Amino acid sequence: MSKTFKGVAVFAAASAMVLAGCSTDRGGSDEESTAGATGGSSDGGVCIEEGAAIGVALPQKTSENWVLAEELFNDGLTEAGFTPIVQFGNSGVTEQQNQISAMIEQDAQVIVVGAIDGSQLGSQLEAAKDSGASVIAYDRLVLNTEAVDAYIAFDNFRVGELQGEALLQGLAERKGDGPYTIELIAGSPDDANATPFFEGAMSILQPKIDDGTLTVGSGQTTFEQVATAGWQAQNAQTRMDTIMSGTYSGDTELHGILSPNDTLARAALTSVDQAGKDVPVITGQDSEVESVKSIVEGVQYSTIYKDTRELVAQTIASIEELAACGEIPVNDTEQYDNGVKVVPAYLLDPKIVTQENAAEVYANDATLGPLTEG
Ligand code: BGC
Repeated sequence: MSKTFKGVAVFAAASAMVLAGCSTDRGGSDEESTAGATGGSSDGGVCIEEGAAIGVALPQKTSENWVLAEELFNDGLTEAGFTPIVQFGNSGVTEQQNQISAMIEQDAQVIVVGAIDGSQLGSQLEAAKDSGASVIAYDRLVLNTEAVDAYIAFDNFRVGELQGEALLQGLAERKGDGPYTIELIAGSPDDANATPFFEGAMSILQPKIDDGTLTVGSGQTTFEQVATAGWQAQNAQTRMDTIMSGTYSGDTELHGILSPNDTLARAALTSVDQAGKDVPVITGQDSEVESVKSIVEGVQYSTIYKDTRELVAQTIASIEELAACGEIPVNDTEQYDNGVKVVPAYLLDPKIVTQENAAEVYANDATLGPLTEG
């Protein structure tokens, strides 16, 4: 994986920068924009037209956030006067590639892409740029291509750090003094987010493994060993089943599990439950309804709140900037090297959620807030 991370939330201190976004013609104009304060260069976009088609290529429905994004993009883009084409690549990479090509055919002037496989979209996105469209990587970075103008996401490395910290905090709260035995789960290797999630978490956990506070019972500690193909719950559960019968068949206790998201956390909890073991401290991400209920009940320890409304709103605001011949706002120009360029990014701030602060964090969320009452 070609990403570089600084391990600090550089964005927090950075003032908003903007990416020059507009030339006045569509269709491969030579007029290039500059990259403003980014210090890099970007082709930027073009002044997009009123009512323009906007393509939004989403991955599979591997978590609730993607399903919500579909609705929010359709409503928000329509309300802003654009014509949305929002599609899921449910059957995989080839379908997503074909969808992007079809969006270009339909003269989409911006392509927003939540990649299934961040390294497999180069030629489609290059074609999009050649047609004069702007390309925004949404939530997941696209890799090894120049054909991406900006990345809009929650800070992935920070998500991992928060998960690592929550695991340590939960172990101290619920499992006594330690040392503790844990297992690690990571996301899908084709998703560019899975590595920073894992690296962020390991930046917190590795020192505790090194000093003996934590032991990984199965001995599986590398990303390759702990990754979950396709973010599929069944894959995580099968791996955990094997670990439970191999490592935890006797009296050995499993105190904690690093899980990168809620779907996989629930799968791992099922496996542990079926093995007849106590509920371990387990992390998650996405604030999925079932997991939020579980946190309120004191079962799953933590999740991460990445408010999809905020992410979609930031993306639509960027498209509106392009429509006004303006520039895509960015606040980080260092962290997201996609292999061939550092992609200027707008990073939003993820929040950790536990039983203790759930009511406060979800206070303004009409779906999740009520789950924390009474
Ligand atoms: C997203 C996570 C999500 C995962 C699986 C990642 O790219 O950032 O929020 O849990 O995909 O859908």
